[in-house]
Amino acid sequence: MIDFSGKLVLAPLAGVSDSNYRLICRRLGADITWSEMVSADGLVYCWEKNRFLLDFSDGERPLGIQLFGSEPGVMGRAAANVARLAPDFIDINFGCPVKKVVRRNGGSSLLRTPELIGRITEAVVKSSGEVPVTAKIRSGWSERELNYAQVGRILVEAGARAVCIHPRTRVQAFSGKSNWEHIAHLADELPVPVIGSGDIFEPEDAVRMFAQTGCAAVMIGRGIMGNPWLFKRTRCVLDGNPDPGAPAERERLALALEHARLTVAQRGERHGVVFMRKHFASYTKGLAGGAALRRRLFEAVSLAQVENLFESYLDQAESARGESDTAITAAGCPVDTAAGVTDTTKSDN
Ligand SMILES: Cc1cc2nc3c(=O)[nH]c(=O)nc-3n(C[C@H](O)[C@H](O)[C@H](O)COP(=O)(O)O)c2cc1C
Repeated sequence: MIDFSGKLVLAPLAGVSDSNYRLICRRLGADITWSEMVSADGLVYCWEKNRFLLDFSDGERPLGIQLFGSEPGVMGRAAANVARLAPDFIDINFGCPVKKVVRRNGGSSLLRTPELIGRITEAVVKSSGEVPVTAKIRSGWSERELNYAQVGRILVEAGARAVCIHPRTRVQAFSGKSNWEHIAHLADELPVPVIGSGDIFEPEDAVRMFAQTGCAAVMIGRGIMGNPWLFKRTRCVLDGNPDPGAPAERERLALALEHARLTVAQRGERHGVVFMRKHFASYTKGLAGGAALRRRLFEAVSLAQVENLFESYLDQAESARGESDTAITAAGCPVDTAAGVTDTTKSDN
């Protein structure tokens, strides 16, 4: 079993944490990566069509492949197929709040039938052979049905080797704050590593989660979307070093372009560029003039267009900065002496 202790983990993010993004996050400091959830039904009934969802390369390891489904038999068969690909672990999704999944009694819906969670986990463990099995849960269905501790015990009895908790209820979805006390409680309660998930947006959040909950590992989700540098920054701070901060726009856009190239190589030019829109939205979030850039990126259908848009954005941003520096100087303010430029306005006086 991989060692979760002190690790920073890329969250499973449907539509986001595909093979390319996992590779990027691993390079930028994620210690462990997690696949998007994959439907067990899809794998069992349409293997050829869905096989690509399981593609990964060694650079993404240690990697967990996450399955969702509601039938122990189907989950077992899907796990046997996945185990043949030898991921580092197979994870079961008992937390997804999305209607489409819940309606078919998958994800968080199963929190209402802990006995079925036990049977699904046993079936997956039995079919996975040497590949360890983990599970990801929420705190419960609703505030009145908080059963994460009971579910955690059932999972361990059924053979789960680690449990990840996103401590919100299904009813909460993503509203409010995640309740880290549930992580602490579960970490105290279970004899296996507990991974904490929820509301990590800055390095200090991860430092606090480790300290306040005693979790083995911290998982980061929304905070790394368009911002995979958060892993490296967080590791720096955890190691007692200063936070190097977010990268400048040139570096951000260079990574967005690299990400787009990988995606185009995998999905073809037009589909790849269109698929990248959500990532472009994340990479350009907070940039000055980002909204106008996004509007044009959302119309692009080729890599060359994307590259040109980035180049002209950077040129304009740099010349705007140049102009504003000149304006400041012309207005008689001191030039930035910290950058080693002589303050000529003083000797003029
Ligand atoms: C776009 C998106 C997709 C997600 N997909 C999955 C998924 O496939 N499987 C899963 O277990 N959790 C999924 N989650 C939940 C995250 O893994 C994580 O637990 C949650 O976002 C809380 O962490 P955060 O506050 O760091 O984002 C998803 C969340 C988001 C925002």
